[in-house]
Amino acid sequence: MTAQEVAVLDYGSQYSQLIVRRVRELGFVSHLYPPAELANLKSPGAIILSGGPRSTSDVDAPDVDYAKLMSFGVPVLGVCYGMQLLNIKHGGTVKPGVTREYGPAKLVVTDHTDLFNGISHESQVWMSHSDTCANLASTAQIIATNEDAVPVALKWSDRCWGIQFHPEVTHSHEGTAILKNFLVRSGAVLAKFDIQEFKAQMLERIKAEVGNREVICGVSGGVDSTVLAVLLAKAGVKVRCIFIDTGMMRLNEGAEVKELFAEVGVPIEQIDASAIFLGALKGVTDPEQKRRIIGTLFVEEFWKVADNVELLAQGTLYPDVIESATSGSIASKIKTHHNRVDKIMELKAQGKVLEPLAELFKDEVRALGASLGIPHQALWRHPFPGPGLAVRIPGEITPERVATTQHADSIFIAELRRSGWYERTWQAYAALLPVKTVGVKGDERSYEQAISLRAVISEDAMTADWVELPYSVLRNASNKILNSVKGVNRVLYDISTKPPASIEWE
Ligand code: XMP
Repeated sequence: MTAQEVAVLDYGSQYSQLIVRRVRELGFVSHLYPPAELANLKSPGAIILSGGPRSTSDVDAPDVDYAKLMSFGVPVLGVCYGMQLLNIKHGGTVKPGVTREYGPAKLVVTDHTDLFNGISHESQVWMSHSDTCANLASTAQIIATNEDAVPVALKWSDRCWGIQFHPEVTHSHEGTAILKNFLVRSGAVLAKFDIQEFKAQMLERIKAEVGNREVICGVSGGVDSTVLAVLLAKAGVKVRCIFIDTGMMRLNEGAEVKELFAEVGVPIEQIDASAIFLGALKGVTDPEQKRRIIGTLFVEEFWKVADNVELLAQGTLYPDVIESATSGSIASKIKTHHNRVDKIMELKAQGKVLEPLAELFKDEVRALGASLGIPHQALWRHPFPGPGLAVRIPGEITPERVATTQHADSIFIAELRRSGWYERTWQAYAALLPVKTVGVKGDERSYEQAISLRAVISEDAMTADWVELPYSVLRNASNKILNSVKGVNRVLYDISTKPPASIEWE
């Protein structure tokens, strides 16, 4: 029997792709499929039914073709909604929960034989459901409960299990080990995930999708767009990479991006639109107005080049897809603004948008980037906001204030790199405050500007904590800024968490 992929049937949970990612992390090939695709699967090595937002009692609840599912004779695991569906298929019932159980819960293992082999007797798992399994089929064995002795894991046969919790999220402390047990101890014959093979398949897919069309791709020097551009170039398709300099980039950013792309052998067109952006921002101090101006101009400048585009490539990642689709948060609106504006939705409807990274998470994109030969430093750059330094310069944006911020920022970042702290922080920068402060410079009173340094750690930018940088790092950065940045006589370190602050100043 040849080794096969793990097929994950997507019942609509926010975490479905996360299951695929965990399986890949465990070293196996995995893909996500709509439930109806079960009919077309050739010969999967194992099948996982994901969670989902619906109730199995809904009239049009998504179903599973049970006969087909079992016909493969391979291990099957139902997660949350998937478990409830399997319980019904085995002859049990599901009852609506009175309240939604959401968040951490205790897993109490009652049978350590297979799925929970080596798992602690009690551990934390993550729940997100309202319905629960009620009457169990006579074949069902309870293999774990919650702390109220309610069954949360069932075994119907030597090949079929169901779990009410989400093993794929990190809040389920031993979740990955449980998935590993399912894949390894169940006797599944699985194909090993290999990044080189994954890359080769991706290049083939891109080639087939693009055909003879010309692809246009906006690049910023950030991880996602760089990996995308190199991928397109390696696929051998016709591609134009466009870099728009808004005038609010970091110091030497344009030159660095040019160098990076020269190094990876991908030509880019650099458009210096700084005069247009800075001109439009003259006299504007309102943060929202600044953002609107920059957002609108960016789109205008890009479409000047990309008009009549045959195919637009975007470096959208899986979390962007999920956020745009499901949540109404500020972050999702920001991303919606960039990747899902009307014009792009129009192109999408015409089949003119290519998003080859849409099933990947950031770390997978980095691994792919490394396999494409992109330098480490480019793959580990801090994220940089679309509006650039504008969100770090409260008050009016002038060329002089941009230059001051760029200079201070470059000193701070260089100090972080020198001290080994750059990759230990998630994002770091210098902001220029709209105040003047009194100081003493060369025996004379000075009345100059203040710089605020910020370094944060975060997982997804929704929350963030400030980094406890060593005093020596702060002292070096501060000394260098005070000694060499013209017009600055004070340096502060921002010790605000998000919430209530945000990562950027505006
Ligand atoms: P805040 O300031 O909201 O930032 O805590 C969260 C993360 O989002 C980035 N950010 C943006 N990214 N366009 C972007 O592409 C934007 O308009 C934008 N505003 C903020 C910010 O750098 C941080 O990583």
